[in-house]
Amino acid sequence: MEIRLAECAGFCFGVRRAVDTVYEQLEKGKTIYTYGPIVHNEEVVRELTEKGVKVLENKEALKALPNCKDDEDGAAVIIRAHGVPEEIYGIMANKGLECIDATCPFVKRIHRIVREEGEKGSHVVIVGNPGHPEVEGIVGWCQGPVTVLETPEEAEKFLLHEDKRICIVSQTTFNYNKFQYIVEIFEKKGYNVSVVNTICSATEERQRSARALAAEADVMIVIGGRHSSNTRKLYEICSEECANTYFIQTLDDLRLELPKTVRLVGITAGASTPNKLIEEVQNYVRINF
Ligand code: F3S
Repeated sequence: MEIRLAECAGFCFGVRRAVDTVYEQLEKGKTIYTYGPIVHNEEVVRELTEKGVKVLENKEALKALPNCKDDEDGAAVIIRAHGVPEEIYGIMANKGLECIDATCPFVKRIHRIVREEGEKGSHVVIVGNPGHPEVEGIVGWCQGPVTVLETPEEAEKFLLHEDKRICIVSQTTFNYNKFQYIVEIFEKKGYNVSVVNTICSATEERQRSARALAAEADVMIVIGGRHSSNTRKLYEICSEECANTYFIQTLDDLRLELPKTVRLVGITAGASTPNKLIEEVQNYVRINF
């Protein structure tokens, strides 16, 4: 029996880089804070907390930290892959906190675009979820007027009275077809729009490789958090291709009984699933079947 991991599974490049940054900094023996949980995975956050990493839940928690100006062994704050508004850097600098920026370079690019467009006088439109930290971060880099919207209905209602250029960007995880549809609504209105597709291909690649593997596999295991929407989407996709698809959070959930006829077991994992857990599941299946 063969066990095969989907080509793209688990952490994306940006999240892996941010999590690795935390582990690297821990080795330096400093007090480490992360601005928000470094990844949407309780296991990883718990492990880091046990190692002494503290999570700052919001701006108020950051402001409440003691001033480190004259303290050589001051604390460091790690910014996660989603990024933060520009003002957060200012607060850290004023407090003398070391800022370790693990913002994903793809998100950083959006910050640069909206900032430059604002300076040129454009009205920035961000297509994405206004409550998502990534979007809140992007808004915080805009220099002028900005609108966040996520539905075609909101795009229809959008009205701009001035003769301004509109620059449209998207949240990195936004659905491509929906983004295109929203862009078309703006174009039909006759506005002067410049569109920058800032959707990251990581989500799509993970889904594409999960589908390809599930189409071949006799049994498919999807690992990820119960509340993780991207993991649920992977489960849906795999179930369409493979009738024997299992959704598990940890190894404890895995109750497999594999008939002798099973030749290929496929494994994939959501964006917040650490490699360690993926390897545990792989090894378990390898040893027990
Ligand atoms: Fe991940 Fe960065 Fe893309 S955080 S989803 S690689 S934008």
